[in-house]
Amino acid sequence: MRELIAFIATVVLLVAVALAAQAPEKLVFESKYGNVTFDHAGHAKRAKGDCTVCHDKLFPQSRAPLKFKEGMHKPAEAKRISCGACHRPGGEAFASQGNCVRCHGKK
Ligand code: HEC
Ligand code: HEC
Ligand code: HEC
Repeated sequence: MRELIAFIATVVLLVAVALAAQAPEKLVFESKYGNVTFDHAGHAKRAKGDCTVCHDKLFPQSRAPLKFKEGMHKPAEAKRISCGACHRPGGEAFASQGNCVRCHGKK
């Protein structure tokens, strides 16, 4: 029984390490308005390494385009989803309004 628990604990640890290793440094979301570079490592650090701040309630662990039409910018800010969960008026980070270039057009 003790071996089994130790084994499970090891597997859980290895999975956690493997997931953290997969975490990207930066992600680029292509957009006609100017590509958006998302500093994943920086955001994860600000979240104190707590992946659950974003995964999976705000984003899947994927590299798919965000659903711009359904929820980016104001719609997302109103629903507190996607980037708008934090990037919104009164949120912990700058809102989309007036801050277009802080996200768009960076390399
Ligand atoms: C917090 C970061 C952020 C801010 C601030 C921001 N955007 Fe975006 N925007 C994005 C992301 C990320 C996408 C790409 C979503 C996707 O992958 O579908 C996007 C997509 C877009 C698109 C769609 C382009 C396309 O190719 O379909 C337009 C247009 C746009 N933004 C305009 C704006 C304007 C105008 C502002 C300022 C009022 C703004 N954005 C501010 C992050 C931001
Ligand atoms: C501030 C929000 C945020 C935090 C915190 C965060 N992520 Fe992410 N992560 C994202 C976004 C946004 C994407 C891209 C989602 C998409 O494109 O649909 C992503 C994508 C990923 C991907 C897929 C990358 C690929 O190339 O397929 C992995 C793996 C991942 N994150 C792991 C992690 C791990 C591990 C942590 C904790 C150390 C973490 N993330 C913390 C926002 C975050
Ligand atoms: C969990 C909250 C949270 C989420 C979700 C989030 N951000 Fe941020 N973001 C922050 C904070 C906090 C800052 C730094 C504070 C500030 O500059 O207002 C920041 C800063 C940024 C910056 C400035 C450069 C930097 O990294 O310091 C960009 C660009 C950015 N975010 C883009 C995005 C995009 C694009 C998304 C969605 C894919 C997103 N963020 C989702 C919290 C978040």
